[in-house]
Amino acid sequence: MDAIERVFETVAETAPDIRASLPGRREYETAENPTGDQMLAADRYADELLEERLLAIEGVASYASEEREGVVEGEGGDLHVACDPLDGSSNLKSNNVMGTIVAVYDDPLPASGRALRAAGYVLYGPITSMVTARDGTVAEAVVEDGERTVVDDDLTLPADPVVYGFGGRVPDWPDEFAAYAAEIEDELKLRYGGAMIGDVSQVLEYGGIFAYPALDSATNGKLRLQFEGNPIGYIVESAGGRSSDGHQSLLDVTPERLHQRVPVHVGNTELVDRLERALGE
Ligand code: F6P
Repeated sequence: MDAIERVFETVAETAPDIRASLPGRREYETAENPTGDQMLAADRYADELLEERLLAIEGVASYASEEREGVVEGEGGDLHVACDPLDGSSNLKSNNVMGTIVAVYDDPLPASGRALRAAGYVLYGPITSMVTARDGTVAEAVVEDGERTVVDDDLTLPADPVVYGFGGRVPDWPDEFAAYAAEIEDELKLRYGGAMIGDVSQVLEYGGIFAYPALDSATNGKLRLQFEGNPIGYIVESAGGRSSDGHQSLLDVTPERLHQRVPVHVGNTELVDRLERALGE
């Protein structure tokens, strides 16, 4: 097993520990994470478990996460791992879905999405599942007791899209995005759950588009390039779809800072192409 597989295996093995910790860790801490979100005790716990276990893998040179300011260096190696330990953790209070995202780069962070070697996520839903992308193929597994059982070894976006989910308050959407959304509302069914991983999972299963767009009040949107935009762009593109920051693939966005934000749009190619035309140059 190579180091990338070990990373996936370690995330799968850690998923039951993260899941088991959730009921007792619903309270907010006084600290905020580096991008100003309120942190739950569960965010910190998941981050500490992943840091310790991923850095122990031979070949993993560094670990970074949404929950910590800087990059933690390991013993050396070629791989640089970025995690969102608990994506959508504000869903914990309302007991809705959440995820863990992992991105494996072969450049030190902050890195371009073109330096991704693999990416994946765990979805804590009614069942725990894990989606992994590598070498142009996406696989979906069910995780039980930390063991993965593959249920689909070639996950691809369905050709006929069904669902959409767009984040941000509607009055805060730029006019061009609002006009695009009005068209999409006519064609697809709204599914928005407040955790990117849950919403992207719906797009992968049913076809469609997920976006957390640029907002009038936040021109780079909300989601983070290293921990969310790049890995999810990589997964959706590997599944035959497209990703965009509004003008180009997320994988082509220039990395400037570890915690930089980026507008995220992912889904069926035709829908993302149309979005880019709607947003113009
Ligand atoms: O990590 C940020 C996040 O929790 C994403 O998982 C999700 O898509 C988004 O925030 C939800 O934001 P909002 O509460 O504004 O809908």
